[in-house]
Amino acid sequence: MNAKSIAEETYVLSMNVEDILFEGAWEIPNGVSINSYIIKGEKTAVIDGFCGWDGAPETLFTLLSQININPESIEYLIINHMEPDHSGWIEKFKLINPNFKILCSKKAQDLLAAFYGQTENITCVKDGDTVDLGDGHVLSFTEIPNVHWPDTIATLDTATGTLFSCDAFGGFGKIGSSIFADDLDENELKKYEVDTIRYFSNILGTFSPQAKKAVLKCENLPVKMIAPGHGYIWREPGLIMDAYSKYADYQKGPAKEEITLVWSSMYGMTEKAVQFAVKVLESQNIKFHIHQVPEDSWGTVITSAWTSTGLILAMPTYEFKMFPPMASTLEEMGKKKIQNRKVFSFGSYGWSGGAQKELAEITTRLGMNWDFVEPVEFLGAPGEEELQKIENGIIALVNEVKALCSNNK
Ligand code: FEO
Repeated sequence: MNAKSIAEETYVLSMNVEDILFEGAWEIPNGVSINSYIIKGEKTAVIDGFCGWDGAPETLFTLLSQININPESIEYLIINHMEPDHSGWIEKFKLINPNFKILCSKKAQDLLAAFYGQTENITCVKDGDTVDLGDGHVLSFTEIPNVHWPDTIATLDTATGTLFSCDAFGGFGKIGSSIFADDLDENELKKYEVDTIRYFSNILGTFSPQAKKAVLKCENLPVKMIAPGHGYIWREPGLIMDAYSKYADYQKGPAKEEITLVWSSMYGMTEKAVQFAVKVLESQNIKFHIHQVPEDSWGTVITSAWTSTGLILAMPTYEFKMFPPMASTLEEMGKKKIQNRKVFSFGSYGWSGGAQKELAEITTRLGMNWDFVEPVEFLGAPGEEELQKIENGIIALVNEVKALCSNNK
């Protein structure tokens, strides 16, 4: 837990959270931070807030005491986004300070009533509206719908050029000793980039077109610093804006010159072919990721697939259909709209095939527009002939990925 000054009369209150599934579904191996912000003009405003994961609002009050702010003196709560990881403390807060005023979008107003029964002291704001806190702190609001829910806005303090962007421009991962991204060393920054891609693909991926629009909109604001609701603060805002623009583009492909191999096996027959496939991939001078399901989570697979132009799927047939853990992973990839990938698939069957047929059904139904290299299905263990076909399929896939990525440079 930390309360720190980040700009003139502006503070961040940050709490790291671990050992949970984010949104109840998404693995966060390196944790996540929940950031709130305080601006102290003649009037005091809190921007976003803590959920109830760790004793909030007590956590918030402890942090406020570190910067000598009495919760009763807070005039405004700015709800950039109503999802409870940013607003879950409102009910308890109003027991302590019933006189606060909420600033939020019209859509957030409806959600406040539905989630917390909060209907009083709400002012709705829209694009370009401003609120003056005094001492030069004029807040200006920008609607960035669907980054992450339809209600989302970003708040700019024109005094400091700080854009409080909530979910936009955020990332997973615990915050270390400094909350500024420019204080990270090269290795820490690389690690945070992976956590940011995990966050973007798992949480915002479905809304990539809206994220792209939000980036374009925010690029036109006089932003000197981006302070998101999760992750590090950017004093070079162009870096995270460019990164987000790129991550949004990966949704429709092509992404990076990378391949993600996702595999599952019941009794080791498909696994034998996977071991062979890995050797082939190692000979092809291309970066690749490997994930076994269900051992690796949806979120982990989606993180790798998000940046990969090519996918290799290896799974057996199970009772006329695809092995269920692979089917559920593919369904989730479809819901996150991982589209326009180059794909090769193979797998074992016993008394009936069916996995490849279900792959076609899932990708068609979810509009994924995947382009397939001829699949390989084999009875029992793979023989020499099937292994040769698998090698040919992988080489064909690698060549397609390389050609596509080189044309896209
Ligand atoms: Fe961090 Fe969409 O909530």
